[in-house]
Amino acid sequence: MRYHVMTFGCQMNEHDSERLAGMLEDLGYQPVDDPAQADVVVLNTCTVRETAETRVYGRLGELKRLKSERPGMIIGVCGCMPQREGAAGEVRRRAPHVDLVFGTHNLDAFPALLREVVEERRPVVAVSDEEGDIVEGLPRRPGDDLKAWVTITHGCDNFCSYCIVPYVRGRERSRRPEAIVGEVERLVAAGCREVTLLGQNVNSYGQDLVEARGGAGFARLLRMIDGVDGLWRVRYMTSHPRDFGPEVIQAVADCGKVCEHVHLPVQSGSDAILDLMNRGYTTARYREVVAAIRQAVPGVALTTDIIVGFPGETEDDFRQTLDLVREVRFDAAFTFVYSPRSGTPAAGFPDQVPQEVKKERIARLIELQNGITREENQKDVGREVEVLVEGASPKNPGKAEGRTRTNKLVLFPGGQENRGELVTVSVQRAGTWVLHGEVVR
Ligand code: 5AD
Ligand code: SF4
Repeated sequence: MRYHVMTFGCQMNEHDSERLAGMLEDLGYQPVDDPAQADVVVLNTCTVRETAETRVYGRLGELKRLKSERPGMIIGVCGCMPQREGAAGEVRRRAPHVDLVFGTHNLDAFPALLREVVEERRPVVAVSDEEGDIVEGLPRRPGDDLKAWVTITHGCDNFCSYCIVPYVRGRERSRRPEAIVGEVERLVAAGCREVTLLGQNVNSYGQDLVEARGGAGFARLLRMIDGVDGLWRVRYMTSHPRDFGPEVIQAVADCGKVCEHVHLPVQSGSDAILDLMNRGYTTARYREVVAAIRQAVPGVALTTDIIVGFPGETEDDFRQTLDLVREVRFDAAFTFVYSPRSGTPAAGFPDQVPQEVKKERIARLIELQNGITREENQKDVGREVEVLVEGASPKNPGKAEGRTRTNKLVLFPGGQENRGELVTVSVQRAGTWVLHGEVVR
């Protein structure tokens, strides 16, 4: 029996997919790359923007054809999309060939739900509203033994006015620090060298745990994880500018394993728009946080998320975003066209921005940021950087690849041989997406 899991969306979903794969392997299924060969195909979906759902329906269309050739194939749809109000019904209507639909809160019930589909040969839908307790110790099949994702909080309490995540992932719940450190220790014992701590807002980690009150929750967790022997690198995402306080900045500066990279979504450079977005900070506060991080962590790389075309965004608001991008000089930015999500406040705001205007603005923003990314990468030319070697580059024959502590992709002559080692690379050339160099040590 073979399975194939397709993942849409963020790292949280990638991580959930590892758990789904782990559960399938516990049931005796083997992974296959080609969905046409699979007995069970699971689509772990995203609903953060309309385009993410469009892609899911596209794949479901392709699978319909495969299933007509192999009627025994079981198709499951899970994750954030079914969790959105009304969407589970939509999936069943638009894609009746789907056998199993389950939400983010039903992940740990997957083996039982799958058994129901197999044994009773009927479609099963399980989407609960309750986030329930955090289930520890679910099996996982890490996609990569060298690097792993570790969830520290589930859900989100921020309710940014455009965002559907709090509605589909539920209230923020922190895992206990001992459970997290225990997981990291087990990963390291199995050969892992780098962990990325995941949460929608890592900076509010622990606020729901009694012993971590006082805002020192995430800072304390970073220090605990920094102490795990055999681990080399610690990353974390996503950070929230409102909650990125001095204790966390100090912990990032003090902890040798914590990498010099902060993903700090700004979303907009206009105070009026930030207010409408319910982000809880001003551009002045954002600039202060950036200055404090750069002061405490020399050489830190800064990346961000930006939404263009939020309801009410004028040309002047948008220009303030461009000004902020020019001033802060992010190493990279993920840019998004605002997508109204039904059930969120912003979907009902007046002054929705026409699609042509959104398209024009995002093109201007991308052009500006790509130039800055190239220039910032150029600064690494002639420098020596530490790279964790991931092995042969899948897309570049004769080259090996890895990442710097600042999370930049580096290509250098080689193959699989130094996988899992830390090497020093002298950077000779830089593009927008990669650095090129040679191993010197
Ligand atoms: N439309 C466009 N972008 C969105 N994001 C979240 N919700 C929306 C939406 N409705 C973006 C934000 C967030 C990133 C993960 O996705 O920039 O930081
Ligand atoms: Fe969405 Fe805001 Fe929570 Fe991020 S912090 S998941 S953008 S509500």
